[in-house]
Amino acid sequence: MPEKNTKIRKALLPAAGLGTRFLPATKASPKEMLPIVDKPLIEYAVEEAEACGIEEFVIITGKNKRAIEDHFDIAYKLENTLRDKGQVELLEAINRHRNSDFAYIRQGEPLGLGHAISCARPFVKDEPVAILLSDDIIPPGESLLKDMIGLYEETGGPVIALMRVPPEELHRYGVIKGTELREGVYEITDLVEKPAPEDAPSDLAIIGRYILTPDIFEMLDGLSPGSGGEIQLTDALMALAGRRKVYGLIFGGTRYDAGDKLGFLKATVDFALANGALAEGFKKYLFSTVEALNSQRGAKVDK
Ligand code: UTP
Repeated sequence: MPEKNTKIRKALLPAAGLGTRFLPATKASPKEMLPIVDKPLIEYAVEEAEACGIEEFVIITGKNKRAIEDHFDIAYKLENTLRDKGQVELLEAINRHRNSDFAYIRQGEPLGLGHAISCARPFVKDEPVAILLSDDIIPPGESLLKDMIGLYEETGGPVIALMRVPPEELHRYGVIKGTELREGVYEITDLVEKPAPEDAPSDLAIIGRYILTPDIFEMLDGLSPGSGGEIQLTDALMALAGRRKVYGLIFGGTRYDAGDKLGFLKATVDFALANGALAEGFKKYLFSTVEALNSQRGAKVDK
């Protein structure tokens, strides 16, 4: 295995999807730029990777996604204005990723996550990469990506993040079948994209973090459209699992599906409560809202 122990230096962030679950907000602006409190979704993913020592980012973009490039670019005029006004904290906030490099690839048509990743092949070449889907928000205190990199360094094999999901939600995910090698670590033997409840091989769903080896590109080549008519990464991973060991790491921590409205709202509430400047005022508001909701419920019960 030539890539064994090759350091993970690069992260791929596919961001070319249509974001249909967030229409009309995503008609002309990228879903990845929706903010949780004051930072766009994609910046949380960049920070998560940077915390693991990754400084090279390849963002796969598409139509209406220019705001992502502008966000990670230098904004001279804005910087000068903030400097003149002495707004040092804001200046720091807009320059946080100066030490990282960003490259952009366009996926001409949103033909699926697998297709988006195959577009990045010329940039990735023969290196292993971390893939982060910015819809999935993992709070900064969690060590998921670090643990996945650790498992990759130990085994030299691809690693997929998994979570246990209730049966009624499995149809929204790729679901695996596997053999438990040790607590929380699986060797994956089968993967099914968005299974019908009776076809789900387990309750272990794939979430948006992967460490992939470059041989994934060979598997993606020539893949026919799968579930939903899209080129599915899950199908390529299935083919890869037929050739080498592919590992699953179970994540038991907190994760928000911010590509979904309810998940996005939950993330917003929790991040606002964890924000020093906002927490007090926001808590007051939440308490009064909960009180009003409880009295409404009480009024209904009394009727
Ligand atoms: P999703 O299915 O969660 O995102 O794809 P979506 O398609 O943007 O949103 P909905 O489902 O229509 O609301 C998972 C990830 O794969 C990327 C998305 O940007 C997201 O990060 N993706 C998906 C691509 O880059 N290209 C595609 O063709 C499809």
